[in-house]
Amino acid sequence: MYKGKARAHTNIALIKYWGKADETIILPKNNSLSLTLDAFYTETSVCFDKSLTADRFTLDGVLQDEKATQKVSKFLDLFRQKANCTSFAKVESINHVPTAAGLASSASGLCALAGACNQALGLGLSQKELSKIARKGSGSACRSVYGGFVEWEKGYDDDSSYAAPIDSAGFEDELAMIFIVVNQKQKKVSSRDGMKSTVETSGFYPVWLQEAPKDLQAIKQAIYAKDFTKLGQITEANALKMHACTLAAVPPFTYWNAESMLAMDAVRDLRESGLECYFTMDAGPNVKVLCQKKDEAAIFAELSKQFRNEQLIIAHAGVGIEYLEMEVSK
Ligand code: ADP
Ligand code: DP6
Repeated sequence: MYKGKARAHTNIALIKYWGKADETIILPKNNSLSLTLDAFYTETSVCFDKSLTADRFTLDGVLQDEKATQKVSKFLDLFRQKANCTSFAKVESINHVPTAAGLASSASGLCALAGACNQALGLGLSQKELSKIARKGSGSACRSVYGGFVEWEKGYDDDSSYAAPIDSAGFEDELAMIFIVVNQKQKKVSSRDGMKSTVETSGFYPVWLQEAPKDLQAIKQAIYAKDFTKLGQITEANALKMHACTLAAVPPFTYWNAESMLAMDAVRDLRESGLECYFTMDAGPNVKVLCQKKDEAAIFAELSKQFRNEQLIIAHAGVGIEYLEMEVSK
């Protein structure tokens, strides 16, 4: 029996990954840049056991259906091939993040699974190798290997597409992200399907591909200069460009709902009142508010007037993959 356990935190992209150049090995069309966060994470244990007759996947204590298990099995195969292992595995995962609600459970989930497999099979993969393999489970997972600001270099083949941390001289420690959770339910259009339809049908997608590299260069300059205003402005504009692409897809779709719009308005109002903050959104209706730690209490207090306290979660910069001790079974 080979056992391993790992914890990975979610990351939220400030420059979004939106669109694949290769759907099989997950190569993105554009570089992306994210902030790994402390508030949301996944812990996953895996046990390769030759007495098992099939892979078994439980998420939050619930045995998953065939489709979800197949997705995990395909990912386990990558590790089985690397380690010359033929055993099936029992995977037990706990998401300390709502699943498939646009809060990046796929990033923490697949990264934690990659870490658990690395440990279980004694592969000793470097973080760079782990990032490459996590990428093949879910693109954004390759960034959760590292803490703080992380860039995913799109690369051009399996070996050249991976994430790496950005030297930000501790800028991330001055920042906070407040999540406005307007809906925790599973979304109707997964990131995977949403980005595929956008690439194939959105008239705005070619513009996205021109804009994203410019946003990336500009945000890296803002990070190096510790310029929060620029960081926030570029973050918000980049998210809006991604979401504009979905509106121009055929058929058009959006991840926003009425409450997302209210949350975006609330952020604009706060800014006008002198409290500097910016929003970003992913493939779901929840809104994430980027601000400086020094303003987080004041911004939280203002948002509390419009949203229930249980809808608001404060996050700070988080760490990368952590390997955990397996509990000794009784
Ligand atoms: P999200 O916004 O939460 O990342 P996605 O639709 O992009 O939503 O991804 C959700 C998918 O990620 C799930 O349907 C599942 O396939 C995968 N996933 C989420 N959590 C885990 C986990 N802990 N272990 C393995 N896979 C996971
Ligand atoms: C909007 O990484 O979940 O959150 O590679 O198909 O699994 P797959 O997609 P996923 O997409 C994330 C999209 C995003 C932007 C981002 O995180 O960069």
